[in-house]
Amino acid sequence: MNNAPEITTSMPKRLESPEFWVEHIPFVFYLIPQLKPSVIVELGTHSGNSFFAFCQATKENNIPIKCYAVDTWRGDKHAGYYSEAVYQDVLKHKNEYYKDSAVLLRMTFNEALSIFPGKSIDLINIDGLHTYEAIKHDFENWLPKLSNHGTVLIHDTQIKMKDFGVWKFWTEVSKQYPSFEFHHGCGLGVLAIGNNVPTSILKFIEEANKSNQYSNLFKEQGQLVYRQYKKLQLKRNIKKIPRLPLIIIRRLKMLLS
Ligand SMILES: C[S@@+](CC[C@H](N)C(=O)[O-])C[C@H]1O[C@@H](n2cnc3c(N)ncnc32)[C@H](O)[C@@H]1O
Repeated sequence: MNNAPEITTSMPKRLESPEFWVEHIPFVFYLIPQLKPSVIVELGTHSGNSFFAFCQATKENNIPIKCYAVDTWRGDKHAGYYSEAVYQDVLKHKNEYYKDSAVLLRMTFNEALSIFPGKSIDLINIDGLHTYEAIKHDFENWLPKLSNHGTVLIHDTQIKMKDFGVWKFWTEVSKQYPSFEFHHGCGLGVLAIGNNVPTSILKFIEEANKSNQYSNLFKEQGQLVYRQYKKLQLKRNIKKIPRLPLIIIRRLKMLLS
């Protein structure tokens, strides 16, 4: 692979349940330094794995930014409905690490639309409800908000169970713009929509469509992050077991360190 992308080895500071987005975090660390966005909007944040990856990548690359997370933080029929503790924990993490650069907009995607002028957003990550109607609606509503650099990520392009319909929308929209789809981690679609998306990103899309070495590379990196996530989950769960003998806790900690 002559033009193999350079992937930073940063480990994410935020790895929480649910796990569905974690395998795409290495791609975020690759994309952000090239796109150098000024405004990122995420539609669907839940516990913040994807959102805080954007925040971390911009911070580590010294990119002055506003990252907006839009979510009701109540859940939906696909993500499940969850408790207030999820929002409170996201808020705590934001205040601890990204007080000035991150903004949490607790409202529906439709309500948030009027906050953003046309052509003002460089990167939109769409990860809300996954029916065909919902993703089409979210995409079409937010399309006019994209800047000349406008790039869109769409999650769950590979899930075909129940009434998930992102895969179907992806088959349509991916033909309209330069696009690439990662098949791992439930599927992540990348669309270069603006008329001035950086050449390096267009080049990546072109090369990645020609050779699966690119998707393999990000899949491998994604699996490393996933293993890290699993380790963390195990450590947290061990702490919750009240009567586990100290010797076993010590052994488990040694194994996980
Ligand atoms: C799949 S989860 C997001 C996962 C997240 N990106 C991650 O990294 O794990 C979808 C989220 O979208 C939110 N959501 C769905 N439809 C929404 C809407 N119309 N307005 C606001 N939030 C919505 C839900 O509350 C849920 O937290």
